[in-house]
Amino acid sequence: MKDQILKVLELAVTAPSGDNCQPWKFVVDSPRVRLYNLPDKDTSLYNFEQKASLIAHGALLENLQIAAPAFGLKSEIKLFPEGQQSDFVAEILFEKAGGLSADPLFDSLPRRNTNRRQYERRPLSGEAHQALLAASDDIPGAQVYLSKDEAEKNQLAQLLCQNDRLVFENPRLHRFLFDHIRFTPEEAARTADGMDLRSFELPAMDRMAFSLLKNWKAVQIVNSLGFLSKKITKQAEKLCRSASAIGLVTIAEDGNADFVNGGRAMERVWLEATRLGLQLHPMAGLGCLIYRIGRGATGEFSQEHVATLRDLEGGLRKTFGCGDETLAMLFRVGYAAPGSAPSLRKPLKNVVEIKGT
Ligand SMILES: Cc1cc2nc3c(=O)[nH]c(=O)nc-3n(C[C@H](O)[C@H](O)[C@H](O)COP(=O)(O)O)c2cc1C
Repeated sequence: MKDQILKVLELAVTAPSGDNCQPWKFVVDSPRVRLYNLPDKDTSLYNFEQKASLIAHGALLENLQIAAPAFGLKSEIKLFPEGQQSDFVAEILFEKAGGLSADPLFDSLPRRNTNRRQYERRPLSGEAHQALLAASDDIPGAQVYLSKDEAEKNQLAQLLCQNDRLVFENPRLHRFLFDHIRFTPEEAARTADGMDLRSFELPAMDRMAFSLLKNWKAVQIVNSLGFLSKKITKQAEKLCRSASAIGLVTIAEDGNADFVNGGRAMERVWLEATRLGLQLHPMAGLGCLIYRIGRGATGEFSQEHVATLRDLEGGLRKTFGCGDETLAMLFRVGYAAPGSAPSLRKPLKNVVEIKGT
């Protein structure tokens, strides 16, 4: 059974993770697999108390459960067997089973990716809208919201783009992002993590300028001239407006298992979007920072940024019409040509320890 389990894990790790940090490790002791979070992989301000990494783990577990039947396996997942504060995220028990049919989302697993292009501004059909809303119905505590019309989408675009401003005004956010950009295809292949610069889909001139913006001092100088973060914010707003809809996944509570469920819900929406021929771009930054500030961890931000984040939270909740649920994941979804460069994954052997024979 070990070989089938490894095939399932190969698909499980195609899951998204913040800046492609891949914060996971497996111990395979067939028929059991233990999944661990690696807290040092994602040290960004977005990953407050590992919540962003737990969203990634949720996506991974959803992939695993979708993949298993195609390899003749049933999987039973037990979350946090040693308590929710532990890095031991899940124990998975596999069992051979006959007559399983492939999950309808199986074909989407290797095709799902982050598409940061300008989208085609086409409206979603009513069926697609409904299918995305229903994609994660079975995930406890998770709820999906999608903007209903052009006016609502444009309002949300104005809010979401503020994350990009913060990245170019906060040195820690800036450094983490640039540490995870792979500036050449060779660097992307060598590290097999982070994000290939090509996946940012920038015009050639902007790509060159972006390389210079790696230097925080240069960013400060250009910002002092008063236009850099504003220009970047405008570009992000344009990207949001080009989407067919802007979406949000919320979770009822904010325990670690709830964030894992948020990740499962997000992945189901994303795989369903992929199945429908739609592209998706998580714009999760703002939700993560709002959560951080809401938990009182304001230390790394200026008073102005804290106030901005509080205002943005109010705006997002009002526009989506959600209550006091936790904002787990914001995204835009729509139609576009495929992304220019995939984000690579570490070879499975680097993240799997095999026990026994
Ligand atoms: C919790 C989480 C937050 C993310 N936030 C963002 C984001 O704010 N902006 C963005 O462009 N991509 C975001 N992503 C997408 C990741 O960068 C992407 O999944 C990763 O680079 C791997 O690429 P892939 O999705 O194409 O496989 C996020 C992913 C996760 C799981």
